[in-house]
Amino acid sequence: MNGKIIKEKSEQIKNELISIRRDIHSHPESGLKENRTSALVAKKLEELGLDVQKNIGVTGVIGTLKGKYPGKTILLRADMDCLEMTELNDIPYKSKTDGLMHACGHDAHTTWLLGSAMILSQFKDEINGNIKFLFQPAEEGLGGAERMIKAGALENPKVDAAIGAHVWPQVEAGKIGIKYDSMMAAPDLFKITIYGKGGHGAEPHNTIDPISIGCQVYMSLQTIVSRKINPTEPAVLSITMFNGGSAHNVIPDKVEMVGTVRSLNNEMREYIPKTMDSIINGITKAHGAKYEFEYTPYYPPVINDSDITNIVKEAGIEILGTEGVVELSKPTMGGEDFSYFGQAVPSTFFVVGTRNLEKGIDKSLHNPYFNIDEDILHKASAVLAQCAIKYLKNNT
Ligand code: NI
Repeated sequence: MNGKIIKEKSEQIKNELISIRRDIHSHPESGLKENRTSALVAKKLEELGLDVQKNIGVTGVIGTLKGKYPGKTILLRADMDCLEMTELNDIPYKSKTDGLMHACGHDAHTTWLLGSAMILSQFKDEINGNIKFLFQPAEEGLGGAERMIKAGALENPKVDAAIGAHVWPQVEAGKIGIKYDSMMAAPDLFKITIYGKGGHGAEPHNTIDPISIGCQVYMSLQTIVSRKINPTEPAVLSITMFNGGSAHNVIPDKVEMVGTVRSLNNEMREYIPKTMDSIINGITKAHGAKYEFEYTPYYPPVINDSDITNIVKEAGIEILGTEGVVELSKPTMGGEDFSYFGQAVPSTFFVVGTRNLEKGIDKSLHNPYFNIDEDILHKASAVLAQCAIKYLKNNT
């Protein structure tokens, strides 16, 4: 079983994968409610003769392919949830539910992982070790990956490495993008409440004005990224909500600010909230105000393992040719809960290009007009299958 055979097998299932993807696309389900999708996935995996575990971390599904010979276990991962937004595409397989849409391509991820199970199950008698096909719920919040790991997804058989992939409109269809080391950011969130003393808008001297103090806090927090962090290191601090007050002639008691911090490594992830707290503390103290600072660490950063990334690179070249693998020069400041697998075992997360200007496919993720070039589905299945074969062969 070499790259050529895997490629041929993937071409045979091209149309089936497109119809699976359209079915999932028209029936989107949000985090932890992926009942129809996970039933469809489990049914297909059972038909392929895999060991299937259902309802792991609420709606998660795992199919395990046990090779004829002993060896390591590699996990291939997809996510199944959609976004809570309304699709505006005019296509026959448009979302049937207003307010729900597969605008992050998880319909494609689920489909191409089923495709790789369809391919690999034909080679059961030649495989050393095991392949776990993991379909997780709730990537877009609610932490599906962490739930499945807590429910034992990495045990029985014990997982030795993990690979995941995401559709990527910035990369041309027919190519994949790989990245060594930092791949995606930790998307943390925070809430700041500043308590002053309210009063008459005409008597500021009798109040402690939280709006004025809040503005100073806002401006000073912007100096963390611009003045305190090495300019060659990426970091984001965005305040996305700033609320206070209810009337033109009343100084309010408090203001609230909510936002997100993005960082690519653990040192930065500790430094930013510590510095935020010292700035907020200093400014509020100077004005006699009080504050509360809640910082919630969300998903960890995605940091790719070099050996596993090399496997994706080689497998990608075997399936798509040398031109078919591009190295991404920069990480993205978006987050991904694939990072929970990366914290547990050596792993890599790569991207699958979906941009096709001839077909008018160029919209960004989370756009109501987002769509993909469906000709990539079977190719992604072949790359993932080839990755699993290579990993298991290299590690016997
Ligand atoms: Ni996504």
